[in-house]
Amino acid sequence: MQNQEPILKTEEVLTINNFLETETSEEIEKLILDGLSATPKYISSRFFYDDKGSELFEKITYLPEYYPTSLEKNILSNNASDITAGRKKFNIIELGSGDCSKISLLFDAMPPEQIAHTIYFPVDISHSAIKKSAHILLRKYNRLRVNGILADFLKHLKIPSSDLPNLICFFGSTIGNFDKKTAHNLLLKLSDQMKPGDRLLLGLDMVKNQKILEKAYNDSSGITAEFNKNILNAINNITGCNFNPDNFEHIAFFNKDHSRIEMHLKALQPVTVTDKIGREWKIKKGEMIHTEDSHKFTIDDIMEMSILAGFTIKGLYSDEHQWFSLVSFEK
Ligand code: TRP
Repeated sequence: MQNQEPILKTEEVLTINNFLETETSEEIEKLILDGLSATPKYISSRFFYDDKGSELFEKITYLPEYYPTSLEKNILSNNASDITAGRKKFNIIELGSGDCSKISLLFDAMPPEQIAHTIYFPVDISHSAIKKSAHILLRKYNRLRVNGILADFLKHLKIPSSDLPNLICFFGSTIGNFDKKTAHNLLLKLSDQMKPGDRLLLGLDMVKNQKILEKAYNDSSGITAEFNKNILNAINNITGCNFNPDNFEHIAFFNKDHSRIEMHLKALQPVTVTDKIGREWKIKKGEMIHTEDSHKFTIDDIMEMSILAGFTIKGLYSDEHQWFSLVSFEK
């Protein structure tokens, strides 16, 4: 038979490197309990994603009010050939790869020859997510190679050193969930490791009409509220606290001064929370626990990022209303 590719076994095309630093349960508990003792109180958004939280988050991405995911996917598929054109061989690195459904839209636009010369590096903190999505991708694109990186990219960020050009993808406006300083540091760290010609494809949710922004985080079916409140169940499971999520109300609003959606949990009544060794926290009626920020961006912010990190803007892809942008930065 002609033109038949040798069949590669999974272990030849999929490797996973583990850079996760294991935290002790004491360190994790301390992080949570410090937040409950602070003024104002906060819970780190990393605790959203227990099994139930991950399931609810996936539902959010299909809500009619939550426009970012569907817009970003449309923008990606409409511009995929432009984004991947002109490079015969390259590495694709995706930060926070999750279920890999977005990166597939790029592979769909690539000819098999180009896919055969591509190594895909999904970076995620979930081993099962990397393994599951790698198997789906390897079945769909049978000449692709996948090198999974199990890491928290805020702590461990190592762009593969290779002569091939790197395309780093960071979708979902996830950079907007970090505070400004953390986001800028991440861009600087990325830029530091990129060589001339390497690119960063960054998904950003843009500033827009306040009502549209607020509806995206206050959906009519109440899934985002359930997602926000579920963080208390996750905290109960980790620390042995006895939060009753029903004593809290989901609050999400646009803070214009900081150009961000803020999510909080507001106590509907005075609440006393006890942990497993009897420590107590009192929460007043109306008091809020801060759980998440989602910054929204302007063209000026994009220019600022580009100057800060020493990038040039190679492409700016958007939808007809400029609600969401994919920026292609080049080092
Ligand atoms: N980064 C996305 C956003 O900020 C997804 C996200 C993170 C999110 N946390 C969330 C969406 C909480 C809804 C609620 O929009």
